[in-house]
Amino acid sequence: MSNKPIGFFDSGVGGTSVWKEVNQLLPNENTIYLADSKNAPYGEKSKETILKYSIKNTEFLLKKGCKLIVVACNTATTNTISNLRELYNVPFIGIEPAIKPAALQSKNNAVGILATKGTLSSELFAKTTEKFASEITIVEQVGEGLVELIESGQLNSSKTKELLELYIKPMLALETDFIVLGCTHYPYLIPQIKNIVGNRVSIIDSGEAVAKQTKAILQKNYLLNISADKSTHQFYTNTNTEVLKNILGVIPGNTTIEFADF
Ligand code: DGL
Repeated sequence: MSNKPIGFFDSGVGGTSVWKEVNQLLPNENTIYLADSKNAPYGEKSKETILKYSIKNTEFLLKKGCKLIVVACNTATTNTISNLRELYNVPFIGIEPAIKPAALQSKNNAVGILATKGTLSSELFAKTTEKFASEITIVEQVGEGLVELIESGQLNSSKTKELLELYIKPMLALETDFIVLGCTHYPYLIPQIKNIVGNRVSIIDSGEAVAKQTKAILQKNYLLNISADKSTHQFYTNTNTEVLKNILGVIPGNTTIEFADF
C-alpha cells in the first residue's frame, strides 16, 4: 500500500482528460501532472525527440517519488512506452487509440480515426490495426493544428470548427459510424465534433479504459492508497498556467497549479 503519487505526463494540457478519468475512479490517490506545453505538439516530431522528452518527463516524476506513471499521451505511448518500460523500474500505463472496441461495435464496418501524425505512423498503431481491424475500413486522419489550438485555449474558435469539419466530413462520406479520438487533447472537442456528426456517429476515446487499467495495476502491485487523508494534486506546466487552469475547471482535493522549468 502506498500514498506516493501517481505521475502523469503529456505534451501539454490534453492528458488532463485522462487525469480526470483516473481521479474519478481513484479519488483517494495523490497525483502529479506534467504538461510539457513548451514542447507541444509531439505529434510532428521524430521518435528520438519524443523519447528524449518522455525520458525528461519520467525523470522529473520519479524524482518526485511517483509509484506509477500514466503516459497520458497517445503519441508518447505509441512511440516510446516499450523504451520507458526497459529503462525504469516503475509500472507504466499507456494510452492507445481505441481501435479494437470501435472495430468490434461498428455496424458499417467503417471507423474513422483522428490522431497525430506520430501516432498514426507508429509501429504499435500499425500492429493494433492489423490485429483488430484488418477486416474494417479505417479512415485515418491527422488532426494537424488541433493540438496547437487547444494549447492556446481555442476550443471553440472558428478555426477549430473549420479544421474539424475538414477532417470529419470525409469520414462521414465513407459511412463511418465510429470516430476514435486517438489524442488525449481531442476529448475537449467532443461537443464541437457532435455538432458536425449529430447522432450518426459514436465518438470513442480510451480515457476510461486507462483509469480501469491504472486501478488494476495498482491493486496487483499492492500500491493503492489506503490513507484516509484528503488527496493532493500537483499540476506543473512549463508555459503559462492559465490554459491549464481553464481546461481543468473545478477540481477536487488540495490542488496546486504551478510553473516549473522542466
Ligand atoms: N495529447 C497528445 C496525444 O495524445 C498530443 C500529441 C501532440 O502533442 O502532438 O497524442
